[in-house]
Amino acid sequence: MLELSGVSSRYGVVPMLQDVSMNVMEGEVVSLLGPNGAGKSTMFKVLSGLLPSEGGTVTLAGENVSKLGTEKLSALGIGFVPEGRRLFPSLTVRENLRLGYDAAGCQIPFESRLEEMATLFPRIRERLSQPAGTMSGGEQAMVALARALIGAPKLVIMDEPSLGLSPKLIAEYFQIVKRIREDGTTVLLIEQNAETALSVSDRGYLLVRGRIAAAGTREELLADDTVKHLYL
Ligand SMILES: Nc1ncnc2c1ncn2[C@@H]1O[C@H](COP(=O)(O)OP(=O)(O)OP(=O)(O)O)[C@@H](O)[C@H]1O
Ligand SMILES: [Mg+2]
Repeated sequence: MLELSGVSSRYGVVPMLQDVSMNVMEGEVVSLLGPNGAGKSTMFKVLSGLLPSEGGTVTLAGENVSKLGTEKLSALGIGFVPEGRRLFPSLTVRENLRLGYDAAGCQIPFESRLEEMATLFPRIRERLSQPAGTMSGGEQAMVALARALIGAPKLVIMDEPSLGLSPKLIAEYFQIVKRIREDGTTVLLIEQNAETALSVSDRGYLLVRGRIAAAGTREELLADDTVKHLYL
């Protein structure tokens, strides 16, 4: 579904991502792991069309999307959950969700998708008229995920969604990731928290200083020396 081949990027003259190749197949949950500063959010920026990739290609369902911006990528069926949520704080929850829906160009009516999201996230239901900025951190995390899902994307890419959540909320969040996957949505989960991320993933990649340092199934990565050294 999503395939990166030889992708590099730089900030000015400073190289960041170097020759990254990875793929996510339809129906999979794949983790991109890595310590602070490894280049995970840089990868998110490349995948969401905010930062150009230099050399290499990104393809989505066989189509080269390397040069597309966020709007086009959303319209092609990718839902984005950026680091730090990035909700519009003065807009209501409903308005934030509407923006996600409009970006996706979904054929299903808004009200019916909204009902689906309210079922998936019961706490959102009573709070649709509340300004998003007044929601708790955990609630905002759920709203950001609902905003990415409301347009019925084929693929969701999340950057560090568990950051700042309590262990209980992290568990709840990843339960929802499992549900999304069971509904047939493909997920690329960018996370620092390796054990938690791998617990819901089929496979993963480890990014260290802008390069892929290890790749494999959940079991292979948990047994990998570099992963153990960095995390366990
Ligand atoms: N706009 C920028 N200009 C210059 N350097 C940048 C810029 N954005 C990020 N960097 C640098 O690129 C490196 C990778 O940053 P990135 O945000 O991708 O890391 P990360 O893996 O997401 O880390 P974290 O887990 O802390 O979120 C860091 O050294 C960072 O300082
Ligand atoms: Mg980051």
